[in-house]
Amino acid sequence: MRTLNEHLFEETRTSLLRYDPANRPEISTVFPADAPLEVEIGCGKGKFLIARAAENPWINFLGIDMVWKWMRYAVHRSDRRQIRNVKFIRTEAKDFIVHSLRAGGVSTFHVYFPDPWPKRRHRKRRLVTGEFLKLLHSRLEDGGLIELATDHEDYFLQMEEAVVRSAISWKGVRTTGERLFEAQTRTNYELKYAAAGRHLQYLELQK
Ligand SMILES: C[S@@+](CC[C@H](N)C(=O)[O-])C[C@H]1O[C@@H](n2cnc3c(N)ncnc32)[C@H](O)[C@@H]1O
Repeated sequence: MRTLNEHLFEETRTSLLRYDPANRPEISTVFPADAPLEVEIGCGKGKFLIARAAENPWINFLGIDMVWKWMRYAVHRSDRRQIRNVKFIRTEAKDFIVHSLRAGGVSTFHVYFPDPWPKRRHRKRRLVTGEFLKLLHSRLEDGGLIELATDHEDYFLQMEEAVVRSAISWKGVRTTGERLFEAQTRTNYELKYAAAGRHLQYLELQK
């Protein structure tokens, strides 16, 4: 039997959502239960999100990444463990957030180790800007969180600058070298960089 969701996303029996940009849906319709939504932007192989979804069955989780090479690990892992409250979508995150996430519909955005684009001429490709934070802020519920992490000093400074440029009166802004967001599991890059002794920095924003 076809469900409403299949008009919006061609949902398969896996955690992978097949996104049709011509028909942009409200994301909450693809989960089995109505629940708070956490979104990881650039989820890579999904290690963090799958562990968090397994620990928190009363929350819905959406992982977004534009590279199938990484995301396929996430889909296979969550399907193997039959974790129903996590979905993955392969698409560019900003466009998806603009068109498919409703205002006030997200409890937490996780943005861990976004590509640093270290060459000066590539810096404009960085994801985290004042405009980007404004976009995430608009989709957060009151009291919702944005969690950011990087090992790249210059990008961390840009993230702090983006907070100022967002021109938003955040309820909370915390920065530290310790992980702020309590979770059992780290991301792949977080584990790799920590093992290599890199200096990791974290930023948490509360709406
Ligand atoms: C350096 S990896 C970090 C992966 C993961 N967050 C971690 O900490 O292990 C950055 C990821 O973000 C994805 N990515 C970069 N820009 C993106 C965008 N605009 N939309 C969706 N995914 C993006 C890349 O494909 C890549 O998988």
